[in-house]
Amino acid sequence: MNNILHITASPRGKASFSVNFSERIVERLRERAPGAIVVRRDFGTIGLPHIDETYGHTLAGSWPQQPDAYERPGSLAQSERLICELEAADAVVIGTPMHNYTVPSVLKAWIDHVLRAHRSFGFSAERKVGLLADRPVYVAVASGGGYTGEGARQPDFLTPYLEAVFATIGIRDLHFFSLQRTVMGDAAVAQALRGVEDLLEQKLPSPMNLATA
Ligand SMILES: Cc1cc2nc3c(=O)[nH]c(=O)nc-3n(C[C@H](O)[C@H](O)[C@H](O)COP(=O)(O)O)c2cc1C
Repeated sequence: MNNILHITASPRGKASFSVNFSERIVERLRERAPGAIVVRRDFGTIGLPHIDETYGHTLAGSWPQQPDAYERPGSLAQSERLICELEAADAVVIGTPMHNYTVPSVLKAWIDHVLRAHRSFGFSAERKVGLLADRPVYVAVASGGGYTGEGARQPDFLTPYLEAVFATIGIRDLHFFSLQRTVMGDAAVAQALRGVEDLLEQKLPSPMNLATA
């Protein structure tokens, strides 16, 4: 493994559970692949502009094709950069809060840049076809309440949404680590952290598998 792309989407910076746990995943991957280069994108605090007019019209086919649109400053060029970054990553680590049952809007903005028709996915007669190679994606999710297990009182659109989004571009090797009930006190947080640490040990590849990845 040579490259790890680490994306975070919480506005809470260092206080964020999803940032911290995703950082832990990156550390554990680097213990297994010490030479790996980590590209960090902290969209949660730095932000990411939404797609712009040129992008919208180009994808909708409502403007004549402008070949140089991909080189001009703007979100087609941004999209190209973000897709190239993803293509270069042997593993992707995402730290994200649950916001209103799904991903925060800044992560949705990243998705809008990265899922681009005729670039990261194409079409067959029956369905969309992913154009990127599969690779592991480790997703640390923090949520104030619970969405699985006893006492879960809310839907989870985040997990199936990310599965569908990555599958669209050809990436199916997803692993979720959920830190639920973060607002329910220290004991609940400690229990959630124990759960994800145990899962991490099971889910990460062995050093031998990483060497060939
Ligand atoms: C705008 C907003 C929406 C939220 N929506 C949900 C939600 O739908 N379900 C939930 O369990 N927690 C929700 N929360 C709480 C966060 O998921 C929780 O505080 C989580 O720990 C934040 O992740 P972080 O620690 O990585 O910042 C929401 C928080 C914010 C700010």
